[in-house]
Amino acid sequence: MIRTVEELNTRKAQCTAALETKINGSDGRRHIVLCGGTGCLSSHSAEIRERFIEVLKEKGLEDRATVNQVGCFGFCSQGPFVKIYPEDTLYRMVKIEDVEEIVESDIQNNTVVERLLYVDPVTKAKVSKQDEINFYKKQKRIALHGCGVINPEDINEALGMGAYEGLRRALTMTRQEVVDEVTKSGLRGRGGGGFPTGRKWQFALNVDADQKYVVCNGDEGDPGAFMDRSILEGDPNSIVEAMAICGYAIGASKGLVYIRAEYPLAIERLKIAINQAREYGLLGEDILGTGFNFDIELRYGAGAFVCGEETALIHSMEGQRGEPTLKPPFPAVSGYMGKPSNVNNVETFANVPVIITKGAEWFSKIGTEKSKGTKVFALAGQINNVGLIEVPMGITLREIIYEIGGGIKDGRQFKAVQTGGPSGGCLTAKHLDTAIDYDSLVAAGSMMGSGGMVVMDETSCMPAIAKFYLEFTCEESCGKCSPCRIGNKRLCEILEKITDGRGTMEDLQELRNLAAVIKDTALCGLGQTSPNPVLSTLDNFWDEYVEHVVDKKCRAGVCKKLMSYVIDREKCIGCGKCAKGCPVEAITRTDYTAPGHKLTSMVIDSTKCIKCGACINNCKFGAISIQ
Ligand SMILES: Cc1cc2nc3c(=O)[nH]c(=O)nc-3n(C[C@H](O)[C@H](O)[C@H](O)COP(=O)(O)O)c2cc1C
Ligand code: SF4
Ligand code: SF4
Ligand code: SF4
Ligand code: FES
Repeated sequence: MIRTVEELNTRKAQCTAALETKINGSDGRRHIVLCGGTGCLSSHSAEIRERFIEVLKEKGLEDRATVNQVGCFGFCSQGPFVKIYPEDTLYRMVKIEDVEEIVESDIQNNTVVERLLYVDPVTKAKVSKQDEINFYKKQKRIALHGCGVINPEDINEALGMGAYEGLRRALTMTRQEVVDEVTKSGLRGRGGGGFPTGRKWQFALNVDADQKYVVCNGDEGDPGAFMDRSILEGDPNSIVEAMAICGYAIGASKGLVYIRAEYPLAIERLKIAINQAREYGLLGEDILGTGFNFDIELRYGAGAFVCGEETALIHSMEGQRGEPTLKPPFPAVSGYMGKPSNVNNVETFANVPVIITKGAEWFSKIGTEKSKGTKVFALAGQINNVGLIEVPMGITLREIIYEIGGGIKDGRQFKAVQTGGPSGGCLTAKHLDTAIDYDSLVAAGSMMGSGGMVVMDETSCMPAIAKFYLEFTCEESCGKCSPCRIGNKRLCEILEKITDGRGTMEDLQELRNLAAVIKDTALCGLGQTSPNPVLSTLDNFWDEYVEHVVDKKCRAGVCKKLMSYVIDREKCIGCGKCAKGCPVEAITRTDYTAPGHKLTSMVIDSTKCIKCGACINNCKFGAISIQ
């Protein structure tokens, strides 16, 4: 139990020394860490860790190296990762069978295992250190600073990296000073809206109430997003600390984390962090002898996207239906159980301890004029380097896609990038040099959202992409208001018509009209932003919509009903393989024999063809094409 600031300082000094010893190897030992994030665990990183312990024991090397787990490195597509300190050697895609070789070669003989190093997709060079991999070079880690470095299940490692210094400092300040510091930092909400965090805290501080709440929004419902999960799995103490700082600043003694039940590892680690913080006296009564009381409980979400909306989230926590209600009143005035509640996103909170520790001025120097700090993105799609990245606001899409992301897969052409998930939009090559921040993304027709970033090449069909997001919205709409419940369904039907080849030019106008009405009249953010994927693709890929409607063509070859399989009778040698594999007997023989061939060629009956693609795969002569 740590009862005073002095005791905390002593413990922190011990923990920092212990962590530094591991990292710089000053005790003469190597320190082996394995990624313990969900992605790598699913590729057996826990078993690989056990194997390291076993092999070191078998070889009598237990004194030469320690083995530990850390949170996600971000580059999940290359996991499982093993890092060896003090050299900082990073091995990727490690398997159980590789452990013996790593121990014999690296630990025993100080020789790097070259074949397990990362290979740059462009230069083909092998890279042994994390910081030298292009994926990491332009990143700046604030929210993710502990992820991939400390053991998330050990508060001592978190303390060694500076955890709870922000809380210690905050407790020496007045509530107003803490709020002012957050305001001055320029931090804006990372949950999607980008609302200034300090201003929100000020509202909650200004309200007088016998009970206030700090709510952490860990619902993370955007498809493909996993930044909040990664923070909770990789550095849960940063959230515990931030919530305590917020509790002190606004005068709340209770914190609630709303987290989706599908995040079992994040839940487990958060519980461990909360329990360890309680044991250390960093949560509970009279924290650090200052008289400040604060504790945290968890509430579980069942995976509804709309429950991430703050009013729906509060109703869900209260045991009611997870449906949004009109604002005002805002949660800061009337939130959980009708009491003032400050709701912030996980990533927003993850920035707070660093801001209080390093100061608003330090933080506000990073980023752009109106968007300070960094943003974590889940970089996905048809790109070489897929994973979780944290970049300074103001970085361009080009830098993210071509430098961090390593460019488009298989040398294909960049076509679009979708940001902001179902609430966002698709940007094109003309936006590649846009310095991204909250406002520039909105100006370009998309939004930051919570940080989904999906890169697409020419094999993506934009009306089909819009339809994908709209289907998601229809599925997730709570149904409370008709513009969203019915309007989005109608948008979806029109998009289906277009991708099926039944669309008209009037439908394109109808899409715009309906989208505008839904945006203006839907009750909550889900409906108000749901037409964005349609509007942005209409704006940026108008030609492609017209092609679907007028020429009945899908240039990406995605919309099945717009494709026809055709046999080139001059190339066809008449072997009949295609007909044998056709499940609907759509291929028959003609009476034409091409010059130089012995057998008559085949033809496809487009009225029977179900576009399964089997014939194209079966033809070894390149005689079948999609038109
Ligand atoms: C449909 C919908 C889903 C949302 N989902 C999330 C979510 O999963 N996580 C989150 O932090 N905010 C989500 N938000 C935003 C929240 O309503 C709220 O603005 C946010 O939690 C505030 O925190 P921040 O200011 O730190 O961003 C969602 C909003 C809408 C309209
Ligand atoms: S906009 Fe959609 S999700 Fe929001 S309240 Fe209306 S029906 Fe529900
Ligand atoms: S695409 Fe499928 S259904 Fe159509 S002709 Fe080829 S094998 Fe038959
Ligand atoms: S498999 Fe190719 S070459 Fe053989 S009959 Fe079919 S189209 Fe002609
Ligand atoms: S889970 Fe291991 S790198 Fe992300």
